[in-house]
Amino acid sequence: MITGAGSGIGAATAARLAGDGYTVALCGRRPDRLERTRAGLPGKGHSVHPGDLTDVAQVRRAAAEITERHDGVDVLVHAAGGLVDAEPVVDGDGLGAVAADLSSSFAANVLSTALLTHALGPALRGRRGRVVAVGSIAGQRGGGLGYASAKAALHGWAYDRARALGSRGITVNVVAPGYTSGTEFFGDAMTDARHARLIGETLTKRAGEPGDIAATIAFLASADAGHLTAQVIGVNGGALPG
Ligand SMILES: NC(=O)c1ccc[n+]([C@@H]2O[C@H](COP(=O)([O-])OP(=O)(O)OC[C@H]3O[C@@H](n4cnc5c(N)ncnc54)[C@H](OP(=O)(O)O)[C@@H]3O)[C@@H](O)[C@H]2O)c1
Repeated sequence: MITGAGSGIGAATAARLAGDGYTVALCGRRPDRLERTRAGLPGKGHSVHPGDLTDVAQVRRAAAEITERHDGVDVLVHAAGGLVDAEPVVDGDGLGAVAADLSSSFAANVLSTALLTHALGPALRGRRGRVVAVGSIAGQRGGGLGYASAKAALHGWAYDRARALGSRGITVNVVAPGYTSGTEFFGDAMTDARHARLIGETLTKRAGEPGDIAATIAFLASADAGHLTAQVIGVNGGALPG
């Protein structure tokens, strides 16, 4: 099960895991983008479950569809999320804007992850189940008040869920990408100068690619990673040593 699968890191993860032989279920808000991802996947039986993962009823429906259609969930990857344009609030002291930023960022990045994990918890396979949340370098070093706060909150969420699910042999980890090009994340906010500056921060002197993140997720999904849990793994070209 892969969220945010209509673009960027989620779509690359779907391609990677389908190539590795998994049957994948794809979730995101735009059905056409999910269908586009599905059309490019090798193998058969992949399914599309459109929905807004910040909404309890839509999460419940997507989880019910997935458990009906598939025989259990081996790997749950939360790539849905990102920067959110909160509704502009003009109130003089800025408090309304801070509240809107924090609320929308937490909904998109934390609530979505926590709700779907809870809904699919019983369907996660014991002994080999894997949960991977896509965090961000921003959660480790700042970068947007609401966004950085929400991505950092995923760390505590993962530690807690790893503790809760560990006795079933299920691992829970966060993969924290640095700058990754080839996604819709930056919208039209990326400039040549910003692109060059972000590459300059890396030790590898290149932008990350969605496939870099997908490869790390594929390792976490593998049998070899069964004793690796409650960790935050940076994939950032050394932009943030750790
Ligand atoms: N690109 C980077 O440089 C970078 C760096 C660090 C971390 N990240 C993180 O990587 C993850 C994947 O982002 P990306 O870079 O691949 O950007 P992206 O192309 O914008 O992908 C994000 C996906 O999440 C889906 N989504 C957003 N809100 C959703 C919701 N409420 N319910 C269901 N689906 C939702 C979007 O599809 P719909 O709009 O159709 O719902 C979209 O396909 C995000 O969590 C992002 O914060 C990205």
